[in-house]
Amino acid sequence: IQALLSTGPLAGRHVVVTSGPTQEAIDPVRFIANRSSGRQGHAIAAALAALGARVTLVCGPVAVPDPAGVTVVRIESARDMLAAVEAALPADAAVFAAAVADFRPADVGTQKIKKVPGAPPPGITLVLNPDILATIARHATQRPRLVVGFAAETETVVPHAQAKRLRKGCDWIVANDVSGDVMGGAENAVHLVTAEGVEDWPRLPKEEVARRLAARIAEVFA
Ligand code: CTP
Ligand code: CA
Repeated sequence: IQALLSTGPLAGRHVVVTSGPTQEAIDPVRFIANRSSGRQGHAIAAALAALGARVTLVCGPVAVPDPAGVTVVRIESARDMLAAVEAALPADAAVFAAAVADFRPADVGTQKIKKVPGAPPPGITLVLNPDILATIARHATQRPRLVVGFAAETETVVPHAQAKRLRKGCDWIVANDVSGDVMGGAENAVHLVTAEGVEDWPRLPKEEVARRLAARIAEVFA
């Protein structure tokens, strides 16, 4: 019903957005995570919905409120995020703004890890998580027409992002410098890296970055 009633340049289009951190369990009471607030991804979901898209937002644990008019699927781990994204396909476009944990503990204890008096601290062996963006960008049967990734970099931002775009097989990379207060902050300075070149956007509120990105996505489907 909502898709039938919606108007705007993205009416009738389905877009999947990932947002927030993932949490990777160590034991029943502990996890590995990161500082992602979900602000940028959630703002993108809201901006796409405002242009008429049907939006599925797959997100890790965040404190920001659910955007209006968006279907929210909550997950914890990277593996759950991948499964939720795959379950949401087909989609016309996908935007991967989540800060996915690259690694997870190899073994998850069923009991809380205890201190052993006199013994050294236990090590945590990590294994690689699946790459959700690369998996969807190279999907054999259900690749969205437009696949957008993010690149969180602390140095040589644009060259790293250009390499990432090719390595992951996505169409665009939104490259951001996370060396300052970007993670959790209200503003973002990004570069849009496409096959055609690089656009340097000014430092803007995350909502405005989201609106510009949504407008660019709408151009693709015009
Ligand atoms: N990403 C993903 N699944 C992962 C890791 C990353 O979908 N397991 C996505 C992120 O959502 C983002 C893009 O890949 O859109 C790039 O994430 P980033 O952390 O910058 O790149 P990595 O490939 O993980 O490389 P590194 O962290 O080593 O720079
Ligand atoms: Ca990473």
